[in-house]
Amino acid sequence: MAGAPVKQRVFRGGRVLVLALFYLSALSNHVDAAVNPTDVGVLNSLSAAWGANTMNWGTGDPCTWTGVFCDPTGTKVMNLLLQATNIAGTIPAAIGSFTGLEQLDLSYNPGLGGPIPPQIGQLTTLTSLIIQNCALTGPVPPEIGNLKNLTFIGLNNNYLSGSIPSSIGSLQQLYWFDLSTNNLTGELPVSTKTTDGYGLDTMTGCKHFHFNNNSLTGPLPSEFGAPPDGIPKLTKLIHMLLENNQLSGSIPDSIANLTSLEILSLSNNKFTGIIPPGLSRLATGPLGSTLEQILVGGNQLTGTIPNFTALNPKLAVVEFSKNLFDPQPFPEWLKSAPTLQTVYMEYVGLIGPLPADVLAYPSLETLWVRNNSLNGTVIIPPVIGPKLLTLSLQNNEFVGFTQTNTSTNMSQIDIELAGNPACDANNVGRPTQLCDQPSGSKLPWSSPFVSNCPSVTCSDSLVLNPLKTGNCNCTLPLEMQLEARRPTFSVITDSLIETLRLKLVAQLNLQNSQVWISTAAFSADGRAEINVDFFSADGVSDLDRASTSNITHSLTSNSLVLDEIKPYLARVIVSGETFFATSKKRLGTGAIVGIVLGVLAALAAVGIYAFWQRRRAERLKHISKPFAKWGKGEGESALDAPQISGARFFPYSEVKRITNNFSENNEIGVGGYGKVYSGVLDNGNKVAVKRAAKDSMQGAEEFKNEIELLSRVHHKNLVGLVGYCYDQGEQMLVYEFMPNGTMSEWLRGKCCAPTSLSSSQFKQMADS
Ligand SMILES: *[C@@H]1O[C@H](CO)[C@@H](O)[C@H](O)[C@H]1NC(C)=O
Ligand SMILES: *[C@@H]1O[C@H](CO)[C@@H](O)[C@H](O)[C@H]1NC(C)=O
Ligand SMILES: *[C@@H]1O[C@H](CO)[C@@H](O)[C@H](O)[C@H]1NC(C)=O
Ligand SMILES: *[C@@H]1O[C@H](CO)[C@@H](O)[C@H](O)[C@H]1NC(C)=O
Ligand SMILES: *[C@@H]1O[C@H](CO)[C@@H](O)[C@H](O)[C@H]1NC(C)=O
Ligand SMILES: *[C@@H]1O[C@H](CO)[C@@H](O)[C@H](O)[C@H]1NC(C)=O
Ligand SMILES: *[C@@H]1O[C@H](CO)[C@@H](O)[C@H](O)[C@H]1NC(C)=O
Ligand SMILES: *[C@@H]1O[C@H](CO)[C@@H](O)[C@H](O)[C@H]1NC(C)=O
Ligand SMILES: *[C@@H]1O[C@H](CO)[C@@H](O)[C@H](O)[C@H]1NC(C)=O
Ligand SMILES: *[C@@H]1O[C@H](CO)[C@@H](O)[C@H](O)[C@H]1NC(C)=O
Ligand SMILES: *[C@@H]1O[C@H](CO)[C@@H](O)[C@H](O)[C@H]1NC(C)=O
Repeated sequence: MAGAPVKQRVFRGGRVLVLALFYLSALSNHVDAAVNPTDVGVLNSLSAAWGANTMNWGTGDPCTWTGVFCDPTGTKVMNLLLQATNIAGTIPAAIGSFTGLEQLDLSYNPGLGGPIPPQIGQLTTLTSLIIQNCALTGPVPPEIGNLKNLTFIGLNNNYLSGSIPSSIGSLQQLYWFDLSTNNLTGELPVSTKTTDGYGLDTMTGCKHFHFNNNSLTGPLPSEFGAPPDGIPKLTKLIHMLLENNQLSGSIPDSIANLTSLEILSLSNNKFTGIIPPGLSRLATGPLGSTLEQILVGGNQLTGTIPNFTALNPKLAVVEFSKNLFDPQPFPEWLKSAPTLQTVYMEYVGLIGPLPADVLAYPSLETLWVRNNSLNGTVIIPPVIGPKLLTLSLQNNEFVGFTQTNTSTNMSQIDIELAGNPACDANNVGRPTQLCDQPSGSKLPWSSPFVSNCPSVTCSDSLVLNPLKTGNCNCTLPLEMQLEARRPTFSVITDSLIETLRLKLVAQLNLQNSQVWISTAAFSADGRAEINVDFFSADGVSDLDRASTSNITHSLTSNSLVLDEIKPYLARVIVSGETFFATSKKRLGTGAIVGIVLGVLAALAAVGIYAFWQRRRAERLKHISKPFAKWGKGEGESALDAPQISGARFFPYSEVKRITNNFSENNEIGVGGYGKVYSGVLDNGNKVAVKRAAKDSMQGAEEFKNEIELLSRVHHKNLVGLVGYCYDQGEQMLVYEFMPNGTMSEWLRGKCCAPTSLSSSQFKQMADS
């Protein structure tokens, strides 16, 4: 018994010793844990170059600085994640001196320009290099080929020029290679033609080639599928996005050897020759069939469209539009693709009848066969496909339209028949509704959620989270736009959006009420753009920096699984984090040019709320994307003017002339956006010119989007857009003049808006 207290004492003593040792070691750990001086030096160089002293950089442990993430021992910088932090300037060469950097993400900093320093090639520990949506110029440094552990390159949406360096072909770990939307030129490098023996054809592990939206030339190399040694390497490639380039030559048959390919997008290039029959073999890889989308529209392809159904159980989207095919009957094989969803065959030389059973097809949503020579009668089968939503039949030779089953409810299907003999004015059975259906009626989607706090009005870009009950505070969210580059859906539905929203909530580990999708719409070239707001969990503060960083990096690194919109691209429209003085200002007050007259009818269709959202998004975009690619700046010269089909460009001098030098006599209205003038074109047509006041101007891209929207909307209650002026620093919209003085009445909001808008709704628009 006597021993027990002793033992206890010994034990206690031991514990004290252990504790002391622990504290000592903790202390020495603390000393050891200092980030190595080289890394600290690099951080200081970056701080000097980027004005990063507006962050919490400079004092204390560098591992606690914004965007700096150290390794577990705290001795080196492992990740540098500075997305959407307003850093500006160029990337200093010193960045190459980090001792163990693994992830670098500088995306969404529109002020970050200049070239990527070749010293980036010294960061041999780097696994991901992400600098997207910045303003980088100069070449893609070949030194990136030294970074053998790289798995991810995302340098898309910059102004990079020069060609794709072959050295990157040596990176065997790389699975994501995105250089889309830059100014790249030259050919796709292949090992047989390069001095280092590398090329895109040697990238054994790569799953994503995203090189769309550049100015690349030359062929689609046959070596991709048929390399000189006979062993195809690109067997993991799933997305090959090459649309919107200047590629030429024929599509090689050996593409069929890319046995994992899911999306092959070659649209809007200069490809010639036939669609190789081998492409239909794409379906038969070792893992079964993979091809989901084939897009070859907007080329100069000839011959006929081959039968793609051979073992193609996943084929969902086909786009063959606008090629130089021989006259051919409607490809019957389409109806035997079990998952076929979207078919674009505009202007492909189709002749003969449209087989009725295609419209009964169980998964078909959208069929575009406009601008062909299809003839006979359009026959709607007794039972139509349950998913059919869009049938674009314009400009063919259809003489009639027959619905075989009068009980079929066709109201959910958008059928467009204009430009066919069946729509001739003297045709007795003219199906009026189908003939007068406005085209392109893919309406934007907007959130059905309405805030529970209607009495609160938020100023500027602050938003009341509509998903939050009880907490009625306006906060600044992180607002992003997700772009589905190749959507598998052709119509945006509530359930699709909700599925996406819940995936974002779950995968970002957020609360249900933190993610709100405000609007979604298709762009003119078929992409889908989805606007998402991320709110703070408490509902009363702005979204914090850590969450902003987490969300944006998850998106830039494509680490979210969003099958509906893969592969997606994300843009920051406004960042809600309050770390920087600049973003605290709660953003600009300059109202954008409203669409008072033009959008009146569109508004009635999509709702005031959607419009408000859009306006807000556009205003924010203007602020966060000052480097819009359209035009050099403020439209100083007519040379900057874009080509927009359906809207004519008016030089400033012409507008000045037709409005009598903007004389007071021609003034027919004034609003928050500026003034409206009447004028007479040289052809005698009367127009109304809406001239944006200086402080109401939008960014170039926003202005362009607006014109595109207006020029696409056609409605009987809508004042048509004739054209626009973006010249001499002016932004003006030219509309048809409404007779009988209605136009000025609209402007003053006195009477007779052409739709059933309430006076407060009208005011909201007039103020915009
Ligand atoms: C590359 O990655 C491997 C495996 O993760 C690792 O062992 C190696 O040290 C890395 N190389 C460099 C230079 O970091
Ligand atoms: C990118 O290319 C376009 C057209 O090819 C050109 O107008 C523009 O000036 C280029 N931008 C830069 C930054 O090189
Ligand atoms: C790609 O180019 C097309 C046409 O040139 C353009 O409409 C589209 O906005 C571009 N896409 C991106 C992601 O910039
Ligand atoms: C690859 O494609 C070419 C052309 O279609 C073909 O001749 C060759 O046999 C294919 N190679 C393999 C390994 O499938
Ligand atoms: C298309 O190919 C499939 C599979 O080889 C075949 O069953 C079908 O009859 C073909 N269709 C046409 C219209 O040639
Ligand atoms: C439809 O067009 C085809 C080919 O041009 C022609 O042979 C046929 O007679 C036409 N059918 C009708 C009903 O006009
Ligand atoms: C389709 O037809 C319309 C009307 O004839 C024409 O204005 C349009 O340019 C055509 N589109 C194509 C791609 O040929
Ligand atoms: C006609 O349509 C109705 C409603 O969709 C359906 O119930 C009926 O079976 C159809 N009739 C025939 C003959 O297919
Ligand atoms: C047809 O369907 C729409 C909704 O899709 C519905 O509003 C309408 O009442 C239906 N019409 C008939 C006659 O059933
Ligand atoms: C609501 O926002 C205002 C201004 O942004 C702020 O002053 C107020 O404290 C916030 N309310 C709560 C409960 O946080
Ligand atoms: C950011 O994401 C990581 C990993 O997904 C998670 O551990 C961390 O808690 C997140 N941070 C915040 C602030 O949400």
